[in-house]
Amino acid sequence: MRLLTGIQPSGDLHIGNYFGSIKQMVDAQKENESFAFIANYHAMTSVNNGKRLAELTMQSATDFLALGINPEKSVFWVQSDVKEVLELYWTLSSFTPMGLLERAHSYKDKTARGFATNHSLFSYPVLMAADILLFAPDIVPVGKDQIQHVEIARDIAIKFNNHYGDILKIPEFKVEEHVATVPGTDGQKMSKSYGNTVNIFGEEKAQLKTIKKIVTENVALEEPKQYENCNVYNMAKLFLDKKELNMLEDRYTQGGEGHGHFKLYLADVMWEYFRDFREKRAYYHHNQNEVRDILKLGANKAREQALPMIEIIRSITGIKY
Ligand code: ADP
Ligand code: TRP
Repeated sequence: MRLLTGIQPSGDLHIGNYFGSIKQMVDAQKENESFAFIANYHAMTSVNNGKRLAELTMQSATDFLALGINPEKSVFWVQSDVKEVLELYWTLSSFTPMGLLERAHSYKDKTARGFATNHSLFSYPVLMAADILLFAPDIVPVGKDQIQHVEIARDIAIKFNNHYGDILKIPEFKVEEHVATVPGTDGQKMSKSYGNTVNIFGEEKAQLKTIKKIVTENVALEEPKQYENCNVYNMAKLFLDKKELNMLEDRYTQGGEGHGHFKLYLADVMWEYFRDFREKRAYYHHNQNEVRDILKLGANKAREQALPMIEIIRSITGIKY
């Protein structure tokens, strides 16, 4: 099975990103043919500081390698290193009705929230369709917010195929229903836009400070405590096995400890959990040329896959003359 994922280079990763998406990507590469790229062209729709975008791209590549994207198992590259995607984007534009893009939720939301609209925001789903269709994946794993974009890619592919024959593979999306939403420090969904994140690669002191901010019930130290709806417990659950979790539950119900103790415990557990990832990240951070080499090799592999498809499309559309 071929899986394809695009990742926006959006800065510091949080534990919601890890448990909600990155871990699935890493696990999936064991049994599937996995394609993953950093969507830096897409990021241009929101980042218009060139130096910043370049930094974010390298930071994302470093972080994803540290967290377990294995370049021997996955084809891992930066979107802009396979320019054929822009060619397909233009070709597909002629098979994209305006109405299809006008109905896109993410475009409608952004305009409703007062973002200055421009063409890249509007045509974002066409580029995403090109990302997908160029590599003919069977499945595109996505978060719920991206389902419609894959549906648009399907619609465009069907339109193209109706006109030129059965050339593009119609992709399926897959939403990981069993993946729980990771709560933030305030109990809402963890998200950068809510300012309630616990970052994976923060400094130890800063991380502890963030964890201390987690909102908890006000119960006297000696009293037994509820763990079911406790934000600290719900976060700790992500890192613990069954036995460790039962021990934590006992500590809640016995009383005699405050939420401050549970927060310290969570900070320790989390620090340990990401220890190896942190070391790997430090390694790649000091060896950015190695990261660049990995990305170049990945781009070559990706282009090998893309070229036969783009050749067929050039021929059939008359661009090759
Ligand atoms: P943010 O909301 O912080 O901007 P993104 O939208 O960039 O995060 O999310 C990137 C990926 O991480 C998506 O696949 C999304 O489904 C996943 N993700 C983000 N936050 C959470 C969360 N709180 N719980 C589970 N998954 C999450
Ligand atoms: N739009 C996706 C997001 O914001 C990123 C993305 C770009 C993508 N191209 C893709 C995801 C192709 C899957 C397939 O998360």
